[in-house]
Amino acid sequence: MKTIVAQHRGFCYGVKRAVEMAQGCIHCAVPTYTLGPIIHNPQMVGRLAAKGIGMANTLEEIARGTVIIRSHGVGPDIYQAAQARGLQIVDATCPHVQKAQQAAKKLAGQGYHVVIIGEKRHPEVKSIFEWSGNKAQIIETVDEARELPFQERLGAVAQTTFAGDAFQAIVEVLATKTNDFKIERTICTATDLRQQAALALAAKVDIMLVIGGRNSANTTHLADLCLQAGCKTYHIETAEELQQEWFADVEAVGITAGASTPDWLIEEVYDKMQEMNQFMGDGVKEINVGDI
Ligand code: F3S
Repeated sequence: MKTIVAQHRGFCYGVKRAVEMAQGCIHCAVPTYTLGPIIHNPQMVGRLAAKGIGMANTLEEIARGTVIIRSHGVGPDIYQAAQARGLQIVDATCPHVQKAQQAAKKLAGQGYHVVIIGEKRHPEVKSIFEWSGNKAQIIETVDEARELPFQERLGAVAQTTFAGDAFQAIVEVLATKTNDFKIERTICTATDLRQQAALALAAKVDIMLVIGGRNSANTTHLADLCLQAGCKTYHIETAEELQQEWFADVEAVGITAGASTPDWLIEEVYDKMQEMNQFMGDGVKEINVGDI
């Protein structure tokens, strides 16, 4: 059985940076909390908690110490409130998200009707909205874009993880709604790269293992994509979930992971696959170490 790891998988730049910033606080003498889960991965959140980095849902839960802002970012009010409470701030907002926040602020300041192309309930979109001075309109579908009345000036920014083709389709409609259109192309390529690599791998293997939190939207989406591409797919969080019977008569297994999945979880799955291969004796043909 051959095991192949996707070329692009696991932590994106912004998530890796945020986790490293949180890890950098482990030995701080003051109580430290992330505002919301640092990433949508229960194992990583648990690991940090075991080392003293707690999680608070609101600033009110933090009496003193340090608050870590996660990669999705927050609105300006949260910075002010944290300062007013005397908290130290470790800002792990992804720089790509910061760019979208600042673009929304600037467009609103220049008098544009700001549209955020993104998912209404996504925390990053909420943060961009707040940076627009709570003025932006959030548009998620082409139909919603069609309903927009004509605007004197229209400025669009994108949720960094929004699908590129859906963004383009919405932008084409928005362009017909104004004579003064400014687009800030704030989509980050990390999600797209992971999806393309997963699809390329799913086309080559019998089974895909997609590793990541069940609460991680991008991991779940990766698993759905592989499934829709016709590949038998298992979404797992840890190596413990692997079952020998999944691999009976299987020649090739692909492994990928969402942008919030740490390398150590991917390595544990990979190692367990190797153990299973040895256990399967005659069935062992080849292990492609990939680029893990
Ligand atoms: Fe940042 Fe892109 Fe990751 S916006 S958090 S690097 S998906």
